[in-house]
Amino acid sequence: MQVVRLASETDLAGWRTAARSLRASGVPPEAAIWTVDGDASLFAGEAGPAPAPVGASFTVPREFVELAEQVILHRSDERFSLLYRLLWRLESEPNLMKITTDPDVDKARLFARAVSKAAHKMKAFVRFRSVQDEAGEAYVAWFEPAHRVTEATAPFFTRRFANMRFSILTPDVCLHWDTETLAFTPGADPADAPSSDALEDYWRTYYASIFNPARLKVGAMQKEMPKRYWRNLPEAGLIPELIAKAEARTSQMVRQAPSEPERRIVRAVLRASRDAPYDGQPPASLEEIAAGVQVCRRCDLYRDATQGVPGEGPKQARLMFVGEQPGDQEDLAGHPFVGPAGQVLDKALAEAGVPRAETFVTNAVKHFKHEQRGKRRIHQTPNSSEVAACRWWLEGERRIVRPRVIVALGATAALSVFGKPTPIGKFRQQAIQLPDQGQGVVTYHPSYLLRVPDKEAKAKAYAMFVEDLRFAWDLAA
Ligand code: URA
Repeated sequence: MQVVRLASETDLAGWRTAARSLRASGVPPEAAIWTVDGDASLFAGEAGPAPAPVGASFTVPREFVELAEQVILHRSDERFSLLYRLLWRLESEPNLMKITTDPDVDKARLFARAVSKAAHKMKAFVRFRSVQDEAGEAYVAWFEPAHRVTEATAPFFTRRFANMRFSILTPDVCLHWDTETLAFTPGADPADAPSSDALEDYWRTYYASIFNPARLKVGAMQKEMPKRYWRNLPEAGLIPELIAKAEARTSQMVRQAPSEPERRIVRAVLRASRDAPYDGQPPASLEEIAAGVQVCRRCDLYRDATQGVPGEGPKQARLMFVGEQPGDQEDLAGHPFVGPAGQVLDKALAEAGVPRAETFVTNAVKHFKHEQRGKRRIHQTPNSSEVAACRWWLEGERRIVRPRVIVALGATAALSVFGKPTPIGKFRQQAIQLPDQGQGVVTYHPSYLLRVPDKEAKAKAYAMFVEDLRFAWDLAA
């Protein structure tokens, strides 16, 4: 009997080394016992695998390697031996991984699916609470993943919350991000995590505002948001009440326009609820818009974006800036104009004497459209149907903020704001009357200023940009 002691529950490298060595030495699956260091004393005195003989090398299908990366994160004690059995069999059955009816392959695939689902749930259900420490504000979350997916999901969280100091504590392992470095420490206890703060209210408002009674399918909802996660979800407390009220709210929605034939209304409600996860009513507050863009499915751009980026600024702003769409950094940070284009905008605003904090800054399109090239995400201009789909949100912001002046930054924003192509060279420095209310101004997009190759032309375009900002601010006074 050969006993293998792995360094941790997710020690894939250790498993790989030991498995290669066992297979090269001809140790059959039934003669290998797999343990993790902590419980190795159970097998004290048993022999470990000898190092793999020199020159003993073999290749395995890529499919197996990818499956093993997932399967090893499953909580089943059987996972190490299952993988070794597959590895062993691959020698005489090279096409084994393609035989989906094989019980070992089937089980491994089931394990992998469960792991992938657990990772997905972790990404969706981690809820941070804010804490103060010596370095200022930080965020802590407690989470109990169904499988050991904490390390595997870490890159998602560090990318998504790049500028936030946070820790995610789990019973298996804890991860810590200080905005630059990722570190792991041993598992923790729920008591180590704070239990409530103001963010709870945010999550509850968010959930209540995206909750659409007409879409309610209790079974489907519980499948998506299994009860085991509710304990740590601030919004879960709302669920029973929202379910109880759902029927009444749905009939109220249907009753709201009594002059329409009932069947048409019912169809309209159903269509709205199928097409978009809100009830088809225009958003009534900026909070609703901020929540709504996160779940928007009006076009496909949500698929590749990290998150929706709503507009920001005071509700009574006199001046609104509309850009094209969030860029790479805005997509990660969740705020508009915080990347390189935002820096140009900030500099020009300061030179024009316009306080950004008194303006409302948003975009024509709320999700980052891009193409992945290797590690880089290359900006792509949204097309007219994406701009049209997203006007739902921009119009909501315009209706709520009611700015005196809207500045369209670049051609895409101009198309959205004015509803038709508005050439910048021809229309800049003009107040254009908007049909709903207020006036519009068009100017260059800050990214364009970054791209002008000639130094002199760049300086000239930048000076015109500053002039346009000043013009808009004076117009809004
Ligand atoms: N470009 C935009 O149009 N908007 C942003 O928010 C960032 C870059």
